[in-house]
Amino acid sequence: MIRLLKRPVLQAATAFSKMGLEGTPRIPAKGRTFSVQYSLPRLPVPPLDQTLRKYLETVQPILTDDQLESTKQVVKRFQENEGPKLQALLEDRAQNHVNWLSDWWKSVAYLEPRDPVVVNVSPGIYMPRQEYRGQKQMLEFASKFIAGILEYKSMLEDQTVPVDQLGGKPLCMAQYYQLLNACRIPGLKKDTHVCVSPTDPNQPRHINVIHNNHIFSVDVVGAGGKPLSIDQIRQQLEQCLNQSQVPAVPVGILTSMDRGSWGHVYSQMVKDKANRASFENLQKSIFVVCLDGAYVPEEGISETDTGAAAMLHGLGSNNFSGNRWFDKTLQFIFNPDGHFGLNYEHTSAEGPALISFSDHALAYVERDIDPRVGATDVPPPKRLTFNFGDKTRLVINRGMEEVDSLVDDVMLRTMWFKDYGKKFIKQQKLSPDAFMQQAFQLAYFKMYGQPCATYESGSLRRFQQGRTETIRSCSVASLAFTTAMEDEAVPVNKKAELLRKAVQAHRKYTDETVAGQGIDRHLLGLKLTALENGMDIPQLFMDLSFKENCHFRLSTSQVASKSSIVLNFGPVVPDGYGICYNPQEDQLVLSVSSYNNSPQTNSEDFSELLRQSFLQMQKVLASQVQSKL
Ligand code: COA
Repeated sequence: MIRLLKRPVLQAATAFSKMGLEGTPRIPAKGRTFSVQYSLPRLPVPPLDQTLRKYLETVQPILTDDQLESTKQVVKRFQENEGPKLQALLEDRAQNHVNWLSDWWKSVAYLEPRDPVVVNVSPGIYMPRQEYRGQKQMLEFASKFIAGILEYKSMLEDQTVPVDQLGGKPLCMAQYYQLLNACRIPGLKKDTHVCVSPTDPNQPRHINVIHNNHIFSVDVVGAGGKPLSIDQIRQQLEQCLNQSQVPAVPVGILTSMDRGSWGHVYSQMVKDKANRASFENLQKSIFVVCLDGAYVPEEGISETDTGAAAMLHGLGSNNFSGNRWFDKTLQFIFNPDGHFGLNYEHTSAEGPALISFSDHALAYVERDIDPRVGATDVPPPKRLTFNFGDKTRLVINRGMEEVDSLVDDVMLRTMWFKDYGKKFIKQQKLSPDAFMQQAFQLAYFKMYGQPCATYESGSLRRFQQGRTETIRSCSVASLAFTTAMEDEAVPVNKKAELLRKAVQAHRKYTDETVAGQGIDRHLLGLKLTALENGMDIPQLFMDLSFKENCHFRLSTSQVASKSSIVLNFGPVVPDGYGICYNPQEDQLVLSVSSYNNSPQTNSEDFSELLRQSFLQMQKVLASQVQSKL
């Protein structure tokens, strides 16, 4: 997901003083996890001419000939005037930072925007539905899952988690250390993100449990650092349930509001000693656990889509949107009918790191043994107190109305496409990711008869402190493919050939992007350099073509997992779609979101066209094979 720059960005101050220069804890490499961390390369600044050439290539399919001609002139002027100076300044910054982008990105993409984090920023992850039913079994499952996450935490502390790899190359592991003990804090103009460093001797021992809008502080590590046994965790959860039978005022709703409103309320509430202690307890806790009640699907909506939406936004103020603390980096959510998953605040990490946590915890649950002996002197759960007056109560009421209209606005559909998975695509000697991206292009073209600027998240974790770069899936090759597919006069062999070419072009763009040679972050860096140096924003960034090229009607992201999880997030523009996908060997798992308020979009129709596109592409490839025989 991407947010557009509104202001120049400066270093984010962190409340927990253990962050390194660029917002990342400095952790000594004492084990496997960080064995190659500090020898990873630094993010390069691509050559200016290369970026500008590629920029013109990416705008080509979405512009008319006249618009393209005018954009070429704008690019030429930039290349001859401000471009080289900005490039030199940016290269200078790259010399003096471990990663020239990471601080900027954290601010521009996450901490500065004032939109609510719910739907706009924080993804939901819907995990495979479990067989347990009822509150008792939910607590048993949840305590095992919590124990699994805590085991993973210990592995991170011991640095026994293996280094992630992509395309045979090791990846930066810093994100793993910013997911636990971490939280976002609202500000008036800009938020902050805090995280207790793993090197801090005062490691938090508690999680927060939220039930019926009551928030508890629950110790999960006992004296001497001994973890609680699964049964002890279950007893703790049970006590929370017993002590919160009547719903409380949903203070958590405040965290679902636009950041300015919440920042204002926070700045007042934090003056009160009890509130300050409660906020600090939440900010420092290892993670949050939300114990929900039953999800009742609306007419025409499946149980699965309802469960997935509960992870994204909590289903509204009458349901569980108040049973959350959306500022918290990790919230695990359980319901008594086997639905479970998580919601994560995106500032510090991308989906793949999260999936490692949840894959590990799921495997831990399946092992079904408890290696823990348990802890002694475990204090009972403590309910957090919040003091507030009528004014804040009114803001909470407004927050409830706002979250309800947001929930009503989102149309989320999940899809388990079972006709084939990535095994079939690989047998065709094609990249599964690039193939799926072409299916998105085809579905869009079927629906609108034209292409659109498309965002795919590409990992920059080959570099120290790397986050993401945009893979632009709409290309000259993809347009040739989609146009041919919709033209009955084009022979099937030609269609197959154009499909292969489009997939190969996408894979090439991906390879360049993950190698740090994308264009979007480079252009952002040049723009921020101009702002930081008090220069005018170059015309290149004001050009209508530039804006159109950043209006991502398709915002897409692959989050792969061993299990059939489905991650979901909202569209990044009002008239667009958010698509997340998990390609598995024999099936493709996807989610499609859009806004009901937009008359142009409809997730259900789009999902159906996507299904048709997958089938049509399979048919075209099969015909090509037959004709070769
Ligand atoms: N023939 C046969 N097999 C092929 C192939 C071909 N032409 N091209 C690729 N494959 C295989 C690969 O070897 C790989 O095999 P594996 O499943 O055994 O590992 C598999 O197909 C997948 O490769 P591909 O589909 O090309 O994608 P990828 O794994 O390289 O991933 C991205 C591409 C863009 C998703 C990845 O680079 C990335 O950046 N991931 C992170 C995205 C992210 O951060 N998302 C979260 C945002 S919150």
